[in-house]
Amino acid sequence: MLLLLFQALFSKSVSAVNNGLAQTPQMGWNNWNSLGCDVSQDLLLDTSRVLLSSGLKDVGYNYVVLDDCWSDGRDNDGYLRPDATKFPRGMKWVADKLHDMGFLFGMYSSAGELTCARYEGSLDHEEKDAEIWAAWDVDYLKYDNCYHMGRFGYPEISFNRYNNMAKALNATGRPILYSLCSWGEDYVHTWGMSIANSWRVSGDIYDHFNRPDALCACDDPRDPHCVAPGTHCSVMNIINKVAPYVDRGQFGGWNDLDMLEVGQGGMDDEEYKAHFSMWAALKSPLLIGADIRRLSSKTLTILNNPAVIAVNQDPLGRSVAQIYRDQHVKKDKYGQGETQIWSGPLWRHDQLVIFLNAADEDLEMTTTLNDVFIHEGPEGSAPQTRDEFDVYDLWADRMEHHTAEQVLAGNHQYKNSWYNSTQTPYKEGLAKADPRLLGKRVGSVGPKHNVLRANVPRHGVRMFRLRNLTGGSPRYAMTKDEL
Ligand code: GLA
Repeated sequence: MLLLLFQALFSKSVSAVNNGLAQTPQMGWNNWNSLGCDVSQDLLLDTSRVLLSSGLKDVGYNYVVLDDCWSDGRDNDGYLRPDATKFPRGMKWVADKLHDMGFLFGMYSSAGELTCARYEGSLDHEEKDAEIWAAWDVDYLKYDNCYHMGRFGYPEISFNRYNNMAKALNATGRPILYSLCSWGEDYVHTWGMSIANSWRVSGDIYDHFNRPDALCACDDPRDPHCVAPGTHCSVMNIINKVAPYVDRGQFGGWNDLDMLEVGQGGMDDEEYKAHFSMWAALKSPLLIGADIRRLSSKTLTILNNPAVIAVNQDPLGRSVAQIYRDQHVKKDKYGQGETQIWSGPLWRHDQLVIFLNAADEDLEMTTTLNDVFIHEGPEGSAPQTRDEFDVYDLWADRMEHHTAEQVLAGNHQYKNSWYNSTQTPYKEGLAKADPRLLGKRVGSVGPKHNVLRANVPRHGVRMFRLRNLTGGSPRYAMTKDEL
């Protein structure tokens, strides 16, 4: 009796948004972008071994997430059943194996009659499905939006459909990270944080930097009334979609810009660096989407840059915001081209600045402290414009090609050359000013010399951490005299 009471109390204390999870954006791997329905227990285990041996787990990628196409309908009792060919030992066995290796296990379903690839969905089966996932020791649910039987079209109806699963997950008493995949529909950025740990903001990403595609149906990516988010959305399309509501992300709940395309082959090195940098700075979950059983050294040295990941995992949990956008620049053959500058606060009064050059040529880009701190006070009135900063380039210390080759060849002597966030969490590393989290000092800015300038390659970024040397002016804390 006492035990039952304890269990009831315990299960009450866990709620989706307040489940203690995703205090910083979740990191991991998901099979969909590279492998689609080609899933199996071997794929998950082989991938996990690569995450371990390459050091990617140590820098933070700890969720192994299985996407669509894993099930084989329901058993006679109405419980979901895994496909016995793809998962002959069952899901609990997979979970145990992943847990033994130190990973957390993610699974997938849809808030619909069917999943997007037309497997059994969870609509109106929420309780049984949550129950079986908890019994399998699942740690994460990606919850899609296909075949919703018309139950969408305004926020409350979508909220209720997704909340049914939130309640079912909570009722299991097992903390399960809840990741909504409703593609930005029905203003999910206004209610996702009430019930979930992350919510997709767009149609599916594809492996292009800025090429428009009819399948990513919303011509104006900022149109909040777009109801057909679709697929084939470029990196720039998704960045422009999230721009108006970057502030919705917060501890325990994040705007999800979709899985990473880094390493898939459709973009060049600068484009992948830009994609990764923006996802990190916009506080999106970082889910590797490439098939890393064939991991190249170039891909590894983008995904494992601890100075960029430390921005994503920053203890302040604040996204960058756009402070500048110019569309009168050289356009490419698709008619696309723009430059943007983004900035936002980091823990302990540091500040992030990103020059994003989506024009069709290399450019020099410039900003000033007045503009960097525009959200703290207009036209140089922000107290931070009187602080001194060292400027650190967050890509300057990218792992050497040779080192990455050795890591991939399994040469263990290189184990110490990557950051280990399981031993030293990012917060601790930042408090100690671990140089691997800071990049390379390239200059300084302050009240007397307040211009920040950089050459930015075509379709590339320059990403700077401004290290506050003054101890930090209070934010949003203007005294009466200053007003
Ligand atoms: C939708 C989602 C994708 C993926 C597929 C699986 O398109 O947005 O991320 O999960 O379904 O079918």
